[in-house]
Amino acid sequence: MTEPAAAPIGVFDSGVGGLSVLAEIQHLLPNESLLYVADCGHIPYGEKSPAFIRERCRLVAEFFREQGAKAMVLACNTATVAAVADLREQYPHWPLVGMEPAVKPAAAATRSGVVGVLATTGTLQSAKFAALLDRFANDVQVITQPCPGLVECIEAGDLSSPAVRELLQGYVQPLLDGGCDTLILGCTHYPFLKPLLKQMVPANMAIIDTGAAVARQLQRLLGERDLLSAGVARDTQFWTSASPEHFEKILPMLWKKSDTVRSFIK
Ligand code: DGL
Repeated sequence: MTEPAAAPIGVFDSGVGGLSVLAEIQHLLPNESLLYVADCGHIPYGEKSPAFIRERCRLVAEFFREQGAKAMVLACNTATVAAVADLREQYPHWPLVGMEPAVKPAAAATRSGVVGVLATTGTLQSAKFAALLDRFANDVQVITQPCPGLVECIEAGDLSSPAVRELLQGYVQPLLDGGCDTLILGCTHYPFLKPLLKQMVPANMAIIDTGAAVARQLQRLLGERDLLSAGVARDTQFWTSASPEHFEKILPMLWKKSDTVRSFIK
C-alpha cells in the first residue's frame, strides 16, 4: 500500500495559469509528486458565474480524490473565491490551499500609498475580495482593474505580440496614472506577462504575486499532518479539458519542459 505521504498533490486552474504556481510548489517541495488539471475547455473562469465554477471545482476535486491525492491546491484566484468554502465544507479533513490577491503584503510595501490590482472580473467582484480590502487595505488607496482578454492571449501562448502588449498597456496605464507604486497580480495567468509588464512600468515598481506564498502554505499544512514526502517525486502528470495537443505545444514555453498531456473528461 502507498504511504499517505507518498501520495500526489492535485493542482488545479482554469487553464495554464496555475503552472506559475506549480513551478513554485515543485521548487519548494521537490520530493512531491504532482498532478495538474487545466479546465481549458471552460476558460475564462473570470467571466463565468460562481455556481458554474463551483461545479467545475467539485468535479476536479472528485477526480483528484479518485487519483488518491493527499491535498488539493486551487491555483486560481477566481476559482478560490467561488469554490474554496464549499470544498472545505465537503472535505473538512483534506488539506486544501486556495489563493487570494496579495493585498496585505502590497499594503505593507507601498510608499506612494496607492496599490493597483490586476485580476479577473470574477475575483474583483467577489465578497471575498471586498473582505480582503476591508481587512488589510484601510490605510491605502486600492485601484482595481479587471483584465478581460488577457487570459485568452496567455492560453494561446501569446506573451508578447503587439496585440497583447496593447491590451496590457490599456489595463496598466490607469494604475500608473493613479500613482500606483505597487502592483498585485491577482490572477495566476498574469505572472507569465511579467517580462512584458516590466517594460511598461517604472523599474522600482513592486510587482507581487502569491505563487511562492501558496507553496509555503501547502508545505505548512502537509507538515502539520506529517504528510510531507521524503521519497523521490514521480513525473508530473497533466490533464486538460480542451485539446491535449495544444497544451503539449505550449507547455515547453510556460513549464520549460515537454510532457504528455491527457484528456480530462468530466
Ligand atoms: N487563473 C485564474 C485566476 O487566477 C483565472 C483565469 C480565468 O479567467 O479563467 O484567477
